[in-house]
Amino acid sequence: MATNMRRCSSNFIFLLISLLLQFYSGKSDLQLNYYTESCPNAEEIIKQEVIKLYKEHGNTAVSWIRNLFHDCMVQSCDASLLLETANGIESETTSQRSFGMRNFKYVNTIKQALETECPLTVSCADIVALSARDGVVMLGGPHIEMKTGRRDSNESYATVIEDFIPNHNDTMSLVLSRFQSIGIDVEATVALLGAHSVGRIHCVNIVNRLYPTVDPTLDPEYAEYLKGRCPSPDTDPKAVQYARNDRITPMVLDNMYYKNLLSHKGLLLVDQQLASDPTTSPFVEKMASDNGYFQDQFSRALVLLSENNPLTGDQGEIRKDCRYINNN
Ligand code: HEM
Ligand SMILES: *[C@@H]1O[C@H](CO)[C@@H](O)[C@H](O)[C@H]1NC(C)=O
Ligand SMILES: *[C@@H]1O[C@H](CO)[C@@H](O)[C@H](O)[C@H]1NC(C)=O
Repeated sequence: MATNMRRCSSNFIFLLISLLLQFYSGKSDLQLNYYTESCPNAEEIIKQEVIKLYKEHGNTAVSWIRNLFHDCMVQSCDASLLLETANGIESETTSQRSFGMRNFKYVNTIKQALETECPLTVSCADIVALSARDGVVMLGGPHIEMKTGRRDSNESYATVIEDFIPNHNDTMSLVLSRFQSIGIDVEATVALLGAHSVGRIHCVNIVNRLYPTVDPTLDPEYAEYLKGRCPSPDTDPKAVQYARNDRITPMVLDNMYYKNLLSHKGLLLVDQQLASDPTTSPFVEKMASDNGYFQDQFSRALVLLSENNPLTGDQGEIRKDCRYINNN
């Protein structure tokens, strides 16, 4: 009894000290089931909305995965990506790097469902993270456990996007260093690029490899097929033609991407370089031969990405509408 009491009070003191430390640093960490008390159905609501949207527009699931990359890679997982140009803020989506991003309006469908149940409680940043992980499941990928408690930025980083998000034709060493700088190792980077197992690439990002001459690292027959999809070297950025990332299982997040790379059917230069660069190629081979291994690495990597430098505690805010900062 007495020992229990002592253990109890020392636990209590420990708890008190942790709370005080948290209070003084003004910062807390992400945690599993952050909304258990404040909005117990939050994760289930997001999941149900993602399922519903997927059934109406399958591509939404693809978009949620790309959103996580573009939001978290740039500075912080803080939904800065979702801000529209208004009130002195320039939207990050105006960057050339955001070309082709779609389905933003459906983020608000998810947010509205949450606002109805728990007003001003669930952040847009957590919607970005959880919709991506639920989108992965819709596309046949693994279920990933994710922490929550991210808060929303009050600013966009439109002017520095290109310092974080690599271009389609950057060198592998630059790509790896960009990911490394936010704590994502080589193996995890290779796994994340596996997201290019789904979705589409517009011709503007491929034509350099087709015209005037075909990139020798591209399978010649496949190049002919791609030329059919992108019949002209015209790089008018508004051109709507595109090719699917993975012709065989275009809507399945699986290791077909790596098999395609090994048979020289990567669409972007960065994709194809994963298979030729000696730093990354061993991982490509492993992932191509084992979907379970790819899934494990992809899960680990998506969690790393989703936890990049979040705003927590009293930082940032909980936006009411994901498109605008509050008080406007
Ligand atoms: C070196 C890093 C990366 C580069 C250079 C890159 C570049 C691109 C480009 C150029 C497109 C095509 C856009 C278009 O023409 O419409 C694209 C699409 C896409 N990217 Fe990436 N990406 C990278 C990493 C990632 C990562 C880490 C993820 C997620 C984990 C991701 C997810 C996607 C998805 C899902 C699409 C298809 C979007 C759709 O069909 O709507 N990408 N990416
Ligand atoms: C955003 O918040 C930071 C502090 O976190 C503050 O310095 C800055 O002025 C705020 N910006 C806007 C546009 O409210
Ligand atoms: C990369 O592609 C862009 C067009 O998207 C082009 O302007 C640029 O010159 C290319 N860079 C290299 C190194 O080929």
